[in-house]
Amino acid sequence: MNKMLEITGAGIEFNTPKGSFRALRDVNLKIQQGEFVSLIGHSGCGKSTVLNIVAGLLQATEGGVVLNGKEVNEPGPERAVVFQNHSLLPWLSAYENVELAVKQVFKGKKSKAEMKEWIEHNLGLVHMTHAMHKRPDEISGGMKQRVGIARALAMEPYVLLMDEPFGALDALTRAHLQDSLMEIQKDLNNTVIMITHDVDEAVLLSDRIVMMTNGPAATIGEILDVNLERPRNRLELADDPAYNHYRAAVLSFLYEKQKKVDSTTSSAPQANATKKPEPVAAPAIEPAQEPEKKIA
Ligand SMILES: Nc1ncnc2c1ncn2[C@@H]1O[C@H](COP(=O)(O)OP(=O)(O)OP(=O)(O)O)[C@@H](O)[C@H]1O
Ligand SMILES: [Mg+2]
Repeated sequence: MNKMLEITGAGIEFNTPKGSFRALRDVNLKIQQGEFVSLIGHSGCGKSTVLNIVAGLLQATEGGVVLNGKEVNEPGPERAVVFQNHSLLPWLSAYENVELAVKQVFKGKKSKAEMKEWIEHNLGLVHMTHAMHKRPDEISGGMKQRVGIARALAMEPYVLLMDEPFGALDALTRAHLQDSLMEIQKDLNNTVIMITHDVDEAVLLSDRIVMMTNGPAATIGEILDVNLERPRNRLELADDPAYNHYRAAVLSFLYEKQKKVDSTTSSAPQANATKKPEPVAAPAIEPAQEPEKKIA
């Protein structure tokens, strides 16, 4: 069987005190095993909601997710999540945080010694061997994030779901972790879905960049195939015309096609006649969008 993650016709409506709120509509995406896909879009458009549906933390109102032929209805260790804020347990060491996940997945399958070796191996992948017995409050933000990634990898997930995993880090740490993530993913061939706000990060890491329209009723606007050879080197890519073309395509989507209308000025959205109207401003009268339109 071809291993694959399929999101089909997924939409979600939240019940809120002010009534129902349609956050997502008709999200369709097929991801092959080993693919690295980034989700990008303006704040509040629904990226985390998509990720949480795949994680099984949220149930779609219609449509849904199938992983390797099996419907996703709840969280599972084959879909590990890395949150923006590491989410480590503060009273446990880095080692113990990873151990907790490993015990959950491999209880009865690995011996005590095998588990120890496996935990150390995964902490080694993210270069945390030297500090593995420290608690979260004794290590830096980047190190905590690395432990979070080690914990996710140690579960041997088919799918690694990452919600802005490097968002809170300084540029140098971020670059270092991006490089380690590319190496690890090359070795393990996990499927990765990563949310990011960073256009360079998306182009550097992804096989495809999924660009979402603004909410409410957000959906996939365009999908960009990133055909850059791997391994990728950020310094070489900086002068690469293809890299800059991809970068420009994402920027154009975000800042021209899906330009955010400031709520304080949105009472006069037609003031600039050269701007296209917001496609989601009136979803009911908008012609159906082609969900997986590709641009070269
Ligand atoms: N549990 C909920 N109940 C009601 N509305 C929600 C709920 N979760 C999310 N939303 C709304 O759904 C929309 C999408 O939220 P989501 O968190 O997915 O956005 P996002 O793209 O991840 O944004 P950001 O980039 O800021 O993290 C937002 O308008 C948000 O307010
Ligand atoms: Mg989010």
